[in-house]
Amino acid sequence: MADTTQEVAGLDPALRAKMALALDVDDLVEATRYARQLAPWFGVAKVGLELFAAAGPDAIGAMIDMGYDVFLDIKLHDIPTTVRKAASVAGALGVSYLTMHAHGGSDMLKAGVEGFHEGAREAGLPEPIALAITVLTSDAEAPDHIVPARLRTAVEAGCGGIVCAASDLKDIREMAPRTLRVVPGIRAAGANRHDQPKAVTPGEALQAGADLLVIGRAVTEADDPAAAAHALLGDISAG
Ligand code: C5P
Repeated sequence: MADTTQEVAGLDPALRAKMALALDVDDLVEATRYARQLAPWFGVAKVGLELFAAAGPDAIGAMIDMGYDVFLDIKLHDIPTTVRKAASVAGALGVSYLTMHAHGGSDMLKAGVEGFHEGAREAGLPEPIALAITVLTSDAEAPDHIVPARLRTAVEAGCGGIVCAASDLKDIREMAPRTLRVVPGIRAAGANRHDQPKAVTPGEALQAGADLLVIGRAVTEADDPAAAAHALLGDISAG
């Protein structure tokens, strides 16, 4: 009985705001089902390329209507003008976090940040946060020095946050202490890592200085996603 109450209660609001649910599905009905079921644990809904390709801005609107902050993970990388315009649309739609590839360079990142902020401002919304991707975890050939170089480019261009592996948190904290640190690859201890080579537990990520945890398959692929969220997040504290 006590367990059931705790499951429904979920996380306290400060911690919940640090949890991003990765809705990596191609159907808005399915995404909405997960979002509704897992709302006690997650304050942020991550709409990635798959869901955005399937449902577009409707996916963003649906999550905002449910009370989520939206993290639009479409990793923009194009000429500066195009990135500015796309980011502006995202800002106007109410997106709170938007990813862009730092590989796109300084001019592209600056244009994206300006467009994103401008779109939100013109819609009367609070200033959103542009997130830079340094290297993809699938890019095994990326040299080590590339992460600090791209981090510097992103911070100078005005990106408010960075997506990084938990193993990079210490360095990033030292190099850019005011930058929001977003960490995917979260698993319960001993759980299936899927294609996440450097998985850590939520407690480890928070302790290492993560500000936003991206969690997907650890809960969405479970037979009972709410129970999996409870098992994964039930005993962490704000630290
Ligand atoms: O592994 P999980 O389902 O929790 O992934 C959540 C998010 O982590 C994905 O939406 C993707 O953006 C990111 N990811 C990553 N590197 C991988 C696999 C996923 O950064 N190897």
